[in-house]
Amino acid sequence: MHKADRLGKLPPYLFVTIRNKIREARERGVDVISLGVGDPDQPTPPHVIQALQQAAEDPANHVYPTDEEKGMLKFRQAVATWYADRFNVKLDPDKEVLALIGSKEGNHHLCLATLNPGDTAILPDPGYPAYFASAVFAGADVARIPLSRADGFLPRFDKIPEELSKKAKLLFLCYPNNPTGAVAPLSFWQEAVAWAKQYDVILVNDHPYSEVTFDGYRSVSVLEAEGAMDVAVEFNSLSKPYNMTGWRIGMAVGNPELIAGISQVKENTDSGIFNAIQYAGIAALEGDPQQSRDLMKIYQARRDRTIETLRAIGLDPDVPKATFYVWSPTPAGMTSADFAAEVLEKAGVVVTPGRGYGEQGEGFFRISLTVNDARLDEALGRIKSAFAK
Ligand SMILES: Cc1ncc(COP(=O)(O)O)c(C=O)c1O
Repeated sequence: MHKADRLGKLPPYLFVTIRNKIREARERGVDVISLGVGDPDQPTPPHVIQALQQAAEDPANHVYPTDEEKGMLKFRQAVATWYADRFNVKLDPDKEVLALIGSKEGNHHLCLATLNPGDTAILPDPGYPAYFASAVFAGADVARIPLSRADGFLPRFDKIPEELSKKAKLLFLCYPNNPTGAVAPLSFWQEAVAWAKQYDVILVNDHPYSEVTFDGYRSVSVLEAEGAMDVAVEFNSLSKPYNMTGWRIGMAVGNPELIAGISQVKENTDSGIFNAIQYAGIAALEGDPQQSRDLMKIYQARRDRTIETLRAIGLDPDVPKATFYVWSPTPAGMTSADFAAEVLEKAGVVVTPGRGYGEQGEGFFRISLTVNDARLDEALGRIKSAFAK
């Protein structure tokens, strides 16, 4: 097969590479514990499963989804109510909300809706690898801006070269941040909106970790910033707060023209989300928020044990207020790939090398807290023994 050039432009997808390494080690008989991928280990709440079962039994839902490219009005209304309760952001369910097959789909289809060959998309470095593929599939050029630890892993708008600001068409941001776990205050979003307006750039907040927060921290939506609706779109997801990664359901909210653009791509690409999954999504959004908070207590306890272990072996990670990731510097003088290889070899544990998220990720590694407590503790125990000081 002669592959399209666009596939040749993509590096191997980070998690595929990790899956291959795990397979190889398992074939050698190693009991590998993967702390590589952020995929919740807990089950989807029972009331959500019941809503799916009930809706799946109704033949009315066996046809193409209602309002295919937009999602059912009831789902969009549930999203609008959730955004009003959660962020005090008012959304028109008809024009400012769209059902998605996960936030990943939204990122991708936004690029197809807005970027022409030769346009420039700015990506954070380090950053979620799928942004690059989405921009490249749209034929766009990619520029990266650094997120440094000294700046709390937030980009510095005063340091973006004027020439780049002028030619940029779209900026991807993600707070709470994968991979660094950093969070962004409202003042940051105000600055981002002002910059986007000044240079006429589409501002994206990829926000699937909005509910994965600890120590009483509450994440901020970009749409809370004044004037954001003129330039911004936010992607959110049911994947992480409700343990629904496999269900593939999320939402885009924000600027009506951007929402209409994504919708137009969807109309010509997929036929929306199975109605029964949308009913399950409504049940999740309308459920008791305490369930999600209880889940976050589990991650918070795992975070604390992980930080303690890393400190015990002489590392100095920040304590994240959000996301189920711990982003830690590697031991002095070690590249992230070397350290990840050593952790696999000495402890049989997979951590993700920071370099996989971009050049600025070099010197860091990421631990995901989404394995059950017993396996996490086993992994942490092995790391502690293997790297004891
Ligand atoms: C930053 C970021 N965006 C998007 C996604 C994909 O989420 P979804 O399941 O909603 O497509 C992930 C998943 O890990 C992520 O980390």
